Amino acid sequence: METEVITSKIKRRDIPYAIFVFSDNLNEVPEELESQEVLRKSYQNLVKEGNITGKSGEVLYYQYICNGEFERIYYVGLGEKAKPDMEHYRVAGAVLCSNARKLKQKVLSLQFPDFSHLEEDDVINNVHAFIEGVILRNYEFIKYRKEPAETKLEKLIIYEEDLRVAKLIEKGIYLGKINGEATNYCRDIANEPSNVMSPVALEDKAREIANKYYDCMEFYSFGKEGLQERGMGLFLGVAQSESKPPRVITLKYKCKKENAKTLAIIGKGITFDSGGISLKTGPSLFLMKRDLSGGASTLAIMKAVGELRPNINVIGIIGATENMPGPKAYKPGDILRSMSGKTVEVLNTDAEGRLVLADVFTYVQRELKPDFLVDVSTLTGSMEKALGHSISGVISNNKKFLSLLLQASQKSNEHIWPMPLTNDYKKNITSFFADLKNISNSPPDALLAGFFLYQFIENDIPWIHLDIAGTDTASGEPKTYYPRGATGVTTRTLIELVKIMSELEEFPAPIPYSGPWNFFTD
Ligand code: BES
Ligand code: ZN
Ligand code: ZN
Repeated sequence: METEVITSKIKRRDIPYAIFVFSDNLNEVPEELESQEVLRKSYQNLVKEGNITGKSGEVLYYQYICNGEFERIYYVGLGEKAKPDMEHYRVAGAVLCSNARKLKQKVLSLQFPDFSHLEEDDVINNVHAFIEGVILRNYEFIKYRKEPAETKLEKLIIYEEDLRVAKLIEKGIYLGKINGEATNYCRDIANEPSNVMSPVALEDKAREIANKYYDCMEFYSFGKEGLQERGMGLFLGVAQSESKPPRVITLKYKCKKENAKTLAIIGKGITFDSGGISLKTGPSLFLMKRDLSGGASTLAIMKAVGELRPNINVIGIIGATENMPGPKAYKPGDILRSMSGKTVEVLNTDAEGRLVLADVFTYVQRELKPDFLVDVSTLTGSMEKALGHSISGVISNNKKFLSLLLQASQKSNEHIWPMPLTNDYKKNITSFFADLKNISNSPPDALLAGFFLYQFIENDIPWIHLDIAGTDTASGEPKTYYPRGATGVTTRTLIELVKIMSELEEFPAPIPYSGPWNFFTD
């Protein structure tokens, strides 16, 4: 979607335009309407009748003949002026876009509310969130359809008289576009079926990104031989069915700052998870084409990193393979040796994500030597059961690092909830025949999977595990800024985390884990 900022008061009233309304400021007639009696009276009536309330998420569309001219206005609620909130702007962008698309309007114009009383950062944040909302709601995965479901919004014209504010608006647009477009890019990859988005196709996507940002990014990838050379037996076990060649894909962004810290983001990239020999059943099996959402998000974050050029090194790594049954497939009861040396008894071939990630953790820590590690994975149905479809679960060994993520998620409004990491569960994942086993007979699997991954963390490196199994897919009609299919969570949050870390002077130190701590009071 194209945007244009024009440094004047709103001019082109022949284009449908949005007027923002605050719920605690309804008596003040919006500036755009003041000069036209018909519009002013209409607004006052709509307020009196309770049709306009200014609540967040409200949109009202009206058409007028005004001085012989046709005018189309969207009244868009922004909540309370006294309690400004980025989310109100994000929702406003989304609902405005949604309504315009339903009416097949491809160009909109608007003037933001008076920002003169706000700090510069708040202006940027509000515009950022609004644009993010528009772009997120403007998305649909329709490349395989002849007819689009809805027309798209093609252009947004923004009027701002004050040159200083206009500059801040431009900055907000830039940041909102990066987050929105990265999320949509993630969705595009995660929505592709597994017959298209194979491990090698993911590798091609990563190569494309490295080529685009060649001056700051390197690409590296290996397949079966590389896995064998490194002794990545857990990964090889999952990839053993040989339905598609596996890949470990690495994108390395190097910043200009000297002695900068390095953040590694690891994505689970199972391009189809059938469960393997422990075959999944039920009608939702097709959704397992999306078991690469974490990997898709990793690519999207790297794309955003290429644009933003933060002052921290960022590495994106994807462990990509299918998990399929077949004559060569790994079987329950198999014992595999990991790159770390630990052996794992496979009791269920459907708990494949933790196996793939465990070996990727070792590869990343030993060869790429990051200072911080984040993994994003559709890891467990158990997390979906625990937290539902709008909250992602997070497990960490480092409270300070986790608090940075919580800060980032407050900005993105992608909800995350900390879950405990506890040695109490050691016995649940200890095997009699090997060092570890990949499942336990007793729940909670979401925590056990996290705890299993933790066994492959070395030197107390600050680590965050994001389980997006419940949140990566939205079903049914679009909800505010979540379309049907891949949601693209937690791409925006992790981009915000990168930005926060880029500005940081004092970093969380690797300290031995002594939890579980109380996240709310400690
Ligand atoms: N990819 C799945 C987890 C998943 C479930 C993602 C639902 C998205 C939606 C994972 O590999 C898996 O199959 N986990 C099993 C683990 C079990 C065998 C202990 C599960 O959650 O059922
Ligand atoms: Zn599985
Ligand atoms: Zn899986």
